Amino acid sequence: METKSEHIAIAIDGPSGAGKSTLARMAARHFGYIYVDTGALYRTVALFVLRSGADTKDAAAVSALLPGIHVEMRYDGAGVQRMLLNGEDVTDLIRTPEVSMAASDVSALPPVRAFLLDTQRDMAERYDVVMDGRDIGTVVLPEARVKIFLTASARERARRRFRELRERGVETDFETVLQEIELRDRNDSSREIAPLRPAPDAVICDTTEHDLDGSFELIREMIEAKR
Ligand code: DC
Repeated sequence: METKSEHIAIAIDGPSGAGKSTLARMAARHFGYIYVDTGALYRTVALFVLRSGADTKDAAAVSALLPGIHVEMRYDGAGVQRMLLNGEDVTDLIRTPEVSMAASDVSALPPVRAFLLDTQRDMAERYDVVMDGRDIGTVVLPEARVKIFLTASARERARRRFRELRERGVETDFETVLQEIELRDRNDSSREIAPLRPAPDAVICDTTEHDLDGSFELIREMIEAKR
């Protein structure tokens, strides 16, 4: 399907912990675009499913819940994306390891992906966006002006995620984080619908050997070149 828009869209896809959200946010600020974190949509649906007690892998059970879910994205005065679940601000509740795994489960279900597609496309219709996710360049915005596939080794990604969780005060250990990253990689890459893979026209950007500033320089140049 073609997405026609007057607006510029920059798609950043890649596995968990590659630095997508930080770099996408930096790019959005640099170019004056809106940053759209699509993982937060899947996380919000996952939170609802967890709260309902349903099995997050059960397609029929999760589908039956969808009509009762209203997911909304808002931007506060500082331009920070807030997630509303049936009117409740759940932004700070969707970042736990439990919700991460549940989000990976529900994101493999075709009805969930269909349910969230319009919300994502709608953002790109209305604004210049830097949108990050797993299938933005391949499915959500196949016409995106710039497509970047951001990756890093699993160990390096686990190191970054571990540091981030610790800073937020979430109790965990490195090996658990690494195992979760590897499991989510397998889940996200092997699912039948919209698996994690680079679009044929995406530029691959490996950040294993780069710090944040170095990684940002790489993607800034890629965006400048194609913008
Ligand atoms: O980027 P994240 O860790 O917040 O994403 C949470 C889960 O949602 C992740 O396991 C994969 C899934 N996801 C997806 O399938 N498609 C997207 N566009 C974004 C996230």
